[in-house]
Amino acid sequence: MLQQFDPRNQDIQIWVGTGLFPRNEAKVSVFDSSVQGGDAVWEGLRVYENGVFALDHHLQRLENSAKALAFHEIPKREFIENAIYHTLVANGMDKDVHIRLTLTRGEKITSGMDPRLNQFGPCLIVLAEWKPPVYDNQSGIRVISTSVLRNSPRHLDSKIHHNNLLNNILAKIQANIAGFDAGLMLDTEGFVAELNGTNLFMIRNGSVFTPFPHACLPGITRKLTMECCSRLGIPCHEKNISLTELYTSEGVFATGTMGELTPVVNVDGRSIDFENGSEILDQIQNEFRRLIPELCKPIHELKA
Ligand SMILES: Cc1ncc(COP(=O)(O)O)c(C=O)c1O
Repeated sequence: MLQQFDPRNQDIQIWVGTGLFPRNEAKVSVFDSSVQGGDAVWEGLRVYENGVFALDHHLQRLENSAKALAFHEIPKREFIENAIYHTLVANGMDKDVHIRLTLTRGEKITSGMDPRLNQFGPCLIVLAEWKPPVYDNQSGIRVISTSVLRNSPRHLDSKIHHNNLLNNILAKIQANIAGFDAGLMLDTEGFVAELNGTNLFMIRNGSVFTPFPHACLPGITRKLTMECCSRLGIPCHEKNISLTELYTSEGVFATGTMGELTPVVNVDGRSIDFENGSEILDQIQNEFRRLIPELCKPIHELKA
């Protein structure tokens, strides 16, 4: 599923550093650490009619990621919330919006890898766009396993939500070439890790399973999906999952801010038989929809 340009995003205002800029003037320096080495952390958030969804969860993960990368300075939550507030208000945005929140290590005094060259503090980018959920959650998506592995903590810990996305991009390229919607990435042991941009779940014998978060992003939608299962009394466990288990399961679905909860109807050319699993997925999707207003922070509350 290829996202399309939305003309409503032609003239948006984007927050970069300390203020707002029109789309064609919103830029970072060529000395910025994100340009030099993908040295940045990020979050994707959705705005619903009740406000910004799971904001505290996202800001906590952003802070944790920046701390893990030893950023010297991390902006205070009030600063970030205020930047989000001003961006949304400047664009008249109050629902059906996706925010790409990026915190780079900032500008360097000269090109180079060494973080000691970053002497101006981090740079916050708030890019809010009109955007519906990216996947069709009725007809679902088709995915293919790829040869690109997801990082283990031994390589680059997947618990850091960083901008070094090249292995996920390579997995997506493989899926594109094969004509599938997303690339499935395994861990270094050959178990299922996640899709290139979303987490994965499997339904089997009335229970729901998801891979341990050793080699996948511990997604916020993933966590909330597990909470929905618990509220509904549906057993949900983390476990090592092989491709064969996915092929023969009673349902597979992907979770993520960009698409919410999306049925996976085909893995590697094997259709997933939802005969027993679709009722469980419906229940979880409905519970997730009920959770949305509970976890939204109204936009006016973001103003410093
Ligand atoms: C690789 C990857 N997996 C999973 C997710 C889903 O995480 P979340 O539910 O927090 O949006 C993302 C979102 O950015 C991601 O980049």
